[in-house]
Amino acid sequence: MTIDLVFPPGFVFGTATSAHQVEGDNRFNDWWEWEEKGKVPRSGRACGHWQLYRSDIELMARLGYRGYRFSVEWSRIFPREEVFDEDALLRYAEIVDLLRGKGIEPIVTLHHFTNPTWFNRRGSWLREDNTRYFLKFVEKVADTLKGVKYWVVFNEPNVYVLQGFILGVWPPGYRGVGKGEKALRSLVKAHAEAYSVLSKRGVWVGVAQNLIPFKPASTRRRDVEKTRLVDLAYNWAFIDAVLHGEYAFLKGRGRAVSSDFDFIGVNYYSAYLVKHSWNPFKLFIEVKPLETDIRTTMGYYVYPRGIYEVTRAAYERAGKPIVITENGVAVEDDEDRIKAIIRHLQYLHKAVHEGVRVEGYYYWSLMDNYEWDKGFSQRFGLIEVDYETLERRPRKSAYVYGEVAKTNTVKGELVERYGLKTLD
Ligand code: FCB
Repeated sequence: MTIDLVFPPGFVFGTATSAHQVEGDNRFNDWWEWEEKGKVPRSGRACGHWQLYRSDIELMARLGYRGYRFSVEWSRIFPREEVFDEDALLRYAEIVDLLRGKGIEPIVTLHHFTNPTWFNRRGSWLREDNTRYFLKFVEKVADTLKGVKYWVVFNEPNVYVLQGFILGVWPPGYRGVGKGEKALRSLVKAHAEAYSVLSKRGVWVGVAQNLIPFKPASTRRRDVEKTRLVDLAYNWAFIDAVLHGEYAFLKGRGRAVSSDFDFIGVNYYSAYLVKHSWNPFKLFIEVKPLETDIRTTMGYYVYPRGIYEVTRAAYERAGKPIVITENGVAVEDDEDRIKAIIRHLQYLHKAVHEGVRVEGYYYWSLMDNYEWDKGFSQRFGLIEVDYETLERRPRKSAYVYGEVAKTNTVKGELVERYGLKTLD
């Protein structure tokens, strides 16, 4: 007999999206500009969520989901430096009201990878004093959206800095470690400024950090040492800087503007192996996916134990409550999604059982959507989107997850039905 895994009272099972990936027609941000330059696939009308939000919220309520994480698109609120679009902001306020009316806990993200194009023309995040533009946006949103407890200032600052400022493969497309360092400093400062505005209102402010369990490729000393470095720089640089006011990996050069978090949002997807490399162009480091039995269409593999590892690590390092702000898989077979969800929840439950304070779990994603540089090819959704008609079709996983959400329980019978076992 497999036992039921009951989550604590008040634990929220929800779903997540971000503005540019679902809304459609976000023409005033830098991602759209990249699309126009042909560097990434076009997002076009995406899922049409900017029009269909009412029925989408109805649908998530019917399915039994209790939380919804979404982002407010800065370039909708300030399409030009001097133009403030109040109607757009009021629509987000309506979204919050609709959610709350259905008993769905909103989590609002303020920056999810996109900047208004005018902000980049002003030097983007390379100029520390540019944080004032972001702050103006944060103030407007905080004044207008009422009844939101959880606020995420930055989504995955580590991924964003790496892709957009060090490797230059995402907008704004800067390249070099020095650029990355500058951007990181600005983000840490912007977080501190947003923190002071928001925390005065008695809400909880956090980050949604992409956390990766890095494993040494062998027991060799060099591999182990590189793993430690990668872990420090990728997983913890932003969090440590905010909490302790210094950049541990920038020896001696390191004061940061410290502030705080009220919770740590964890975005967890996959695990990687780290190996020492002799190639200076790779900074003497080689990183590759850890292979397991389920490969996602993203190219990386499903490693459910990792959610336990990173959740514990974040809790121990930051000492703050945790929210799983993203976890999910892009797979062709929906049965693999169901198995992945069950496995991840088993491991999350283990962390909770061991005393880690976790407030909720938000599946990425509510529906299929635009996956950044991969366009519409990746099917992360509990709900299938027909991009011709914009019709929503809940997959089997949508109902299975709904049962979990409604009962706060992963039933033993469900675990057995999918041929899975109790964790040791
Ligand atoms: C995360 C992003 C999110 C989505 C998932 C698949 O890194 O925060 O927008 O693209 O990956």
